[in-house]
Amino acid sequence: MSIMADNKLSIEDMAVFCKKKGLVFPSGEIYGGLAGFFDFGPNCVEINNNIKMEWWKFHVQEREDIVGIDGSIITNPKVWQASGHVASFTDVYVKCKKCGKPNKIDRSEIGKAKCECSGEYEVIGDLNLMFKTNVGPIEGNIAYLRPETAQLIFADFKLIAENSRLKLPFGIAQIGKAFRNEISPRDFLFRTREFEMMEIEYFVHPKNINKCPFIKEVLNHKMNVLSAESQEKNKSHVKITMKQALDKKIIKTEWHAYWLATEYKWFVGLGAKPDNFRIRQHTKNELSHYALDTWDLEYNFPFGWKELEGIANRTDFDLQQHIKHSKKDLSFFDQETNEKVVPHVVAEPSLGVGRAFLVFMFDAYNDDKKRGNIVLKLNPKLAPVKAGIFPLISRPELIKTAREIYDELKRIYNINYDKSGSIGRRYARADEIGTPFCITVDFDSLKDKTVTIRDRDTTKQVRVKTAELKDILRKLIDAEIKFKDLK
Ligand code: GAP
Repeated sequence: MSIMADNKLSIEDMAVFCKKKGLVFPSGEIYGGLAGFFDFGPNCVEINNNIKMEWWKFHVQEREDIVGIDGSIITNPKVWQASGHVASFTDVYVKCKKCGKPNKIDRSEIGKAKCECSGEYEVIGDLNLMFKTNVGPIEGNIAYLRPETAQLIFADFKLIAENSRLKLPFGIAQIGKAFRNEISPRDFLFRTREFEMMEIEYFVHPKNINKCPFIKEVLNHKMNVLSAESQEKNKSHVKITMKQALDKKIIKTEWHAYWLATEYKWFVGLGAKPDNFRIRQHTKNELSHYALDTWDLEYNFPFGWKELEGIANRTDFDLQQHIKHSKKDLSFFDQETNEKVVPHVVAEPSLGVGRAFLVFMFDAYNDDKKRGNIVLKLNPKLAPVKAGIFPLISRPELIKTAREIYDELKRIYNINYDKSGSIGRRYARADEIGTPFCITVDFDSLKDKTVTIRDRDTTKQVRVKTAELKDILRKLIDAEIKFKDLK
């Protein structure tokens, strides 16, 4: 596998690795696949479920101010008329005059952007990115596959807010599939036509759009910051604290600073490498039709700094649009001020599961020359298999004990039982899918009721009592103890 100059795996290499390990592959590949659509194998389903579970725990369960919903993928098309997506969710569709390759460009790039073959582009027109479908037996009953999960949060806003007895400020979160008819899907899972999103709409009283009660948590937090102004002056990002960014009015609201730092913390807390992140403000030409100000959390992908997660200030645009189009009162009674208000969405953290998967995979991937195999150093919480259980050799008495351990642990975690091949081969297989711990049953295990645990990252092994295994494994996965603390 070719490694790029800065030792980073290319996106193509990552796609090859994912296919080889059965993680991700083109959808319906036996028929040639379909551009922009992927299928996910057993271990990738586990990783993606872990990413979503960790996201939900961090953003919903561990907070008092955020609740979650699950809206439908197809809904009344009036939702998308009101939101502006029918009229404005478009890309400028261009084709290279030289090689004929299609692409999308920003409106500001018309006449300037060139194809990678250096050919000039011909503008074909605007393309709405929403997939259309027909509902029921009568032709012409058009509906859309949702291009974002956000809109049902707005359309259902009043019902959710009142039933959950929420008080401003509060957020509503959702995880689910979204679909975009991208003109040129590319870079593996980075730009696909079907993907999963994890989104929060965070609502505040219009008078408090710059008053974040949690701001102290992030003020001393340092990040690489690239403002719109710096981009206009061709400057690069600077590493400053959130306090400095707010004091210098680089970031305009406390809410934006809070959510940008919080999202970065979520990634780094799960093992992503801090230096691979920066935050970048959208320039005026880039802003979506609904956004007043948008900052992206960017990641240094092998193909450059790119948007990982968008965090837009959508103001009260969406709620006002739905009030206007549905003629329903979606205002909210704020008990603190005794006022009926239409809250503002000051921050909309919006992240694709596929892009998060790529970040964790790139930062975990290690080509260990000494071991002679890939070691995927995924955080144990994200690892698809938490432990491998191996009888040292295929003898009935060892298999019996190993199976007993497996049967007990599999009730709690996704565990792998493996008795085939040499122990070295089994360790290598476990390393390659990121299994953090391997438990081996040998002849001593039968005598003194102990087993060895092997640490994926150091290959160190420690003998522990079989009776304590369940508790030790839980503490290791939850980072309550470190492997080196095991005696
Ligand atoms: N509701 C806001 C919204 O949809 P966005 O910036 O268009 O904002 C949010 O998308 C996030 O969804 C992106 O930062 C990215 O992580 C993911 N995403 C968007 N389009 C994608 C695509 N075609 N393929 C994979 N992920 C995508």
